[in-house]
Amino acid sequence: MHTLIISKIDELPKAVQILQDGGLVATPSETVYGLCANALDSYAVKNIFLAKGRPADNPLIIHIATIDMLYKLVNHVSPTAQKLIDKFWPGPLTLIFKSKDVVPDITRGGLDTVAIRFTANQTMQQLILESGLPLAAPSANTSGKPSPTNAARVLADLGGKIDAIIDGGECAIGLESTVIDTTKDIPIILRPGIITEDMIRDVVDNIQIDNSIIDQHSSPMSPGLKYTHYAPKTTVSIIKGQNSHIIKTILELIETDIRDNISVGVLLPEELLGNFTHVPSISLGSIDNLTQIANGLFENLRKLDDLKLEKAYTMYFVDTGVGYAIMNRLIKASGHRIILVD
Ligand code: TXA
Ligand code: MG
Repeated sequence: MHTLIISKIDELPKAVQILQDGGLVATPSETVYGLCANALDSYAVKNIFLAKGRPADNPLIIHIATIDMLYKLVNHVSPTAQKLIDKFWPGPLTLIFKSKDVVPDITRGGLDTVAIRFTANQTMQQLILESGLPLAAPSANTSGKPSPTNAARVLADLGGKIDAIIDGGECAIGLESTVIDTTKDIPIILRPGIITEDMIRDVVDNIQIDNSIIDQHSSPMSPGLKYTHYAPKTTVSIIKGQNSHIIKTILELIETDIRDNISVGVLLPEELLGNFTHVPSISLGSIDNLTQIANGLFENLRKLDDLKLEKAYTMYFVDTGVGYAIMNRLIKASGHRIILVD
């Protein structure tokens, strides 16, 4: 299949037509690129799963661009969900509701609930409004790989497997949306994101957190989170402790790797890179700017594979605020390989 690249806004009607015909279009969102299809067309949605190689029990998020669309898809909006909607939509927040029957089983992975997000991205909003369709869209990567934050990475993963890619440049946020299940008495954060726990607590009185977000011994409540995620081919290890201990440990590990002829590098904040000029390095950005680190994280994980490194060392950041979302992704990318040095 030829994958059409759409980079001019006046070519958007082509993408609208493809979606109306049951095809697949990757588009930027404010978080990461999404792979869109008509959420109510089982055949189109099945092709999303095939193109990504995604397990069938991992449900998709449906993207909307008006509140009216929400009421066509879900049965009940709790007062808590309404508060979250009022505060954070449109934006990088996905809410889980009890589903109406109109949503095909395949879109919701066989569950009786459905995930909905009102996107703030102009291009994606336009696609939804002009096609008149709610769009199912997972991140536009091959299953298991880091989510793509630009069109080139989408093309590398899905070129030849999907109908079109809209090139809208780099995504503004770079991490996927925060996911909250609002069907329980007390809402639960299933996936952390740029909308942090504290921001949510400002709006709702009581909120729980799925323990599996950082702890590998709990089983996740969101079906998709049990699968390997965000993993580059490079084996990533996270060193946790004081900065001086982290530097010393990584230097020792690198020395051993070099002796063993292993291609090794580091993925660290710019403040620490001066210690590692003898190996390939990728800067995560400034340690004082977690939003910037979040924004570049997936792209930087993909660069490890560009460099064809066998091993890379990174560090544990703070796990509060945005740091919690960063650590959630980094821990998964490392396959829970954490080395404690204090
Ligand atoms: O920012 C984002 O959320 C991006 C952009 C494209 O919107 N999308 C995205 O989709 O990250 P995806 O498919 O990569 O991740 C969706 C997550 C998965 O972990 C999935 O299991 C969970 O949401 N999910 C979807 N429906 C669910 C449901 N009914 N109950 C629990 N978890 C659900
Ligand atoms: Mg994904």
